[in-house]
Amino acid sequence: MSRLDFSFDDRVVRHYDALRGHPPDVAHTIGEALVGSCASHAPAPSSLRLLELGVGTGRIALPVAAAGAEVIGIDLSADMLGTLSKQLHEAPANIQLIRGDITALPFRANTFDGAMVTHVLHLVADWPAVLQRLAEVVKPEGLLLLGRDWVDPASMAGQIRNAFRQAVMRQGFKTAAPAGGPALHQALLAVGAQAIRVGPEELVAAEWRAEISPAQVLEGIRSRDDAESWVLPDEVLEPVCQELEAMVNTHWPDSKTPQEILRRFVVSVYQTAAAA
Ligand SMILES: C[S@@+](CC[C@H](N)C(=O)[O-])C[C@H]1O[C@@H](n2cnc3c(N)ncnc32)[C@H](O)[C@@H]1O
Repeated sequence: MSRLDFSFDDRVVRHYDALRGHPPDVAHTIGEALVGSCASHAPAPSSLRLLELGVGTGRIALPVAAAGAEVIGIDLSADMLGTLSKQLHEAPANIQLIRGDITALPFRANTFDGAMVTHVLHLVADWPAVLQRLAEVVKPEGLLLLGRDWVDPASMAGQIRNAFRQAVMRQGFKTAAPAGGPALHQALLAVGAQAIRVGPEELVAAEWRAEISPAQVLEGIRSRDDAESWVLPDEVLEPVCQELEAMVNTHWPDSKTPQEILRRFVVSVYQTAAAA
């Protein structure tokens, strides 16, 4: 069992959809928006063949397949894939699953019309190499859809998230090179991709409001159900949580009261290079 497979074990899987799952109407909107963004690349959604790296429990793949595309999902975690397989068994969808490592994509060049990547590159040390290979298995001028969940940075949850990152840095914990922002943009340009919708033009696939209390945000971090705290050893996580607890007590003393938070699922859209 690889280290990563252990991380995405049964405990994480059980909490994953509860914590990160999108409400059904939001999931539907995301699926339609992602498939819609590929409209210029396929005569009909049913002819659209999309690869998803780190498909997980199918949070993105399921609504994309429901919107008409064929999805091939690859993931290393048997537990994450098992959860998705069970759902597919109960409600079949046009999704094929492959248990494999995205650092060694088992596909021929020019296989897919596009690829989707959400919350997975940060888990791979050499993620630029993954993009290099991804650009090969996607057809020329195919789409690369890099999705992420966005939380209003000015909201309570956004402020706690920001404080969390700063506290982790103060503890001297070094994470891998960030697989996001300017580094991700540069890596995509380096593999010949062209930006279609990035920065202020980024696709807002869905926007919604969700209720969560400061105590729940804190608990997600402390219990490592939150993705960013998974990788932290106890000696880093504990002082970080103490700092955050003090922050919550100062700013939101009735920490169990839910607050409404603006959330989005946003997608940077790139296109692979034209055929040589
Ligand atoms: C945070 S989850 C994201 C799942 C899904 N993309 C989503 O947004 O809901 C990350 C997923 O990437 C998978 N993963 C991480 N590293 C991987 C690798 N090297 N090869 C294949 N899958 C990997 C994990 O098993 C996990 O299912």
